[in-house]
Amino acid sequence: MANNHRTIGNVCRGIWNRLCLGIARLLFPAQVRNPFYRMAGVKIGKGSKIGATVDIDHSAPELIIIGNNVWVTRGVMLLCHQRNLAQYEVGKPVMDCELKYAPIVIKDGAHIGIGAIIMPGVTIGEGAVIGAGSVVTRDIPPYCVAVGAPAKVIKSFI
Ligand SMILES: CC(C)(COP(=O)(O)OP(=O)(O)OC[C@H]1O[C@@H](n2cnc3c(N)ncnc32)[C@H](O)[C@@H]1OP(=O)(O)O)[C@@H](O)C(=O)NCCC(=O)NCCS
Repeated sequence: MANNHRTIGNVCRGIWNRLCLGIARLLFPAQVRNPFYRMAGVKIGKGSKIGATVDIDHSAPELIIIGNNVWVTRGVMLLCHQRNLAQYEVGKPVMDCELKYAPIVIKDGAHIGIGAIIMPGVTIGEGAVIGAGSVVTRDIPPYCVAVGAPAKVIKSFI
């Protein structure tokens, strides 16, 4: 994927993504939002709900894969890009580091609590519950509860 380089193609794509994701956020109930998220490239299975004010990364929505019967509650942020700090050095603006992208996968039946932030490259396991306000930086196993920043497993049902 292109990093800091803008082409007419990726500017158009960016406008399209913002339009679809913006419309989705205005709609109610949750189920009618899904077609607009899909138009932006998000993969969403059956029976999943994306709550109001969820912030889906508009620079790479196609990297977000949501399974069946997932509940992403209000104010969650799904982030698929960040600066590549391997390129950072003294005297260089951090904004000159290229962007790196990685997918987010949320497996069937997972529940993401209000205001959680899911970082790039994370897979949330089937049936996992993420606590409100958590920052998930590493993969979360299935059927557990994970909370905090960074999110840690506090309960397992397996
Ligand atoms: C994570 C959650 C599911 C845990 O519920 P629970 O299993 O009943 O857990 P408890 O309330 O017994 O808490 C267990 C421990 O985790 C801590 N904890 C609970 N939720 C937490 C959170 N969001 N962030 C950080 N710590 C949390 C508690 O303080 C407690 O710590 P302690 O053992 O040191 O006292 C729940 O607290 C939560 O955040 N749910 C999401 C709510 C939400 O977003 N609802 C949306 C409705 S649409």
